[in-house]
Amino acid sequence: MEITHFEKLDSTNEYAKRLEFNSDIRRAIVADSQYKGKGREKRKFVSDKGGLYFSIVIDVEFVPDKLSFITQITAAAIHKALKELGIDTFIKWPNDIILNRKKLAGILVESINRGFRMRIISGIGINVENDVQNIEDAASLKGEGFTVDKESLLGEIIKHFLDFYDRLQVNDIDEALSIIKQNSYILNKEILVHKNNDVFLALAKDISPDGSLIVEYKEGGREAIYSSGVQIRLPREIERE
Ligand code: BTN
Repeated sequence: MEITHFEKLDSTNEYAKRLEFNSDIRRAIVADSQYKGKGREKRKFVSDKGGLYFSIVIDVEFVPDKLSFITQITAAAIHKALKELGIDTFIKWPNDIILNRKKLAGILVESINRGFRMRIISGIGINVENDVQNIEDAASLKGEGFTVDKESLLGEIIKHFLDFYDRLQVNDIDEALSIIKQNSYILNKEILVHKNNDVFLALAKDISPDGSLIVEYKEGGREAIYSSGVQIRLPREIERE
């Protein structure tokens, strides 16, 4: 793994898109801060100094069919690395890591195609010792009383991610799937599914091996939902607004 470190970037995901294609190496791009940090659904991701912001970049020679599970293995890798440090987090499907009911980290997986080749970019932002007071419902490790070495956390997350990624290629997803299910923030809870400008009350039933969330709508019907265009909220989160 080749790790390139920058003091400042627009966004590690955007930088990753500009790299030459090279399927021989796996890369990580790290930035101390980002001035155009991106979140899901075109949201901004505040990326002040003190946080850990990076993208893991893997170039593949053909388009993989397991892309929607990449966010899930990323979440499992972050969870596992933090757990080893004694920090218990929850995973809010599809892409948030929750600590003490607040958002500690976010994941933005993107991909770009060049013919039959594809670049997978898994972008991770973790609030370590940055000030999150002005970010709604956010937690930082420092703010919750944890002192963590950013470099070793980075190394552990990358290690677990690559391990889960390699196992995904041979359909061995048991550990990753059980981490995301057992530590889910939403499974077996009532959730609000925001979709096409509508809001539906549903029960979060399961997470499938393809990374989709199985929901049972209150008004009837079951559906596997994929992350794109969908926002999940617990009714409690609405009440607090
Ligand atoms: C989200 O919470 O919606 C996802 C946030 C993802 C943030 C990370 S920080 C590193 C990488 N570069 C970005 O611009 N975004 C991701």
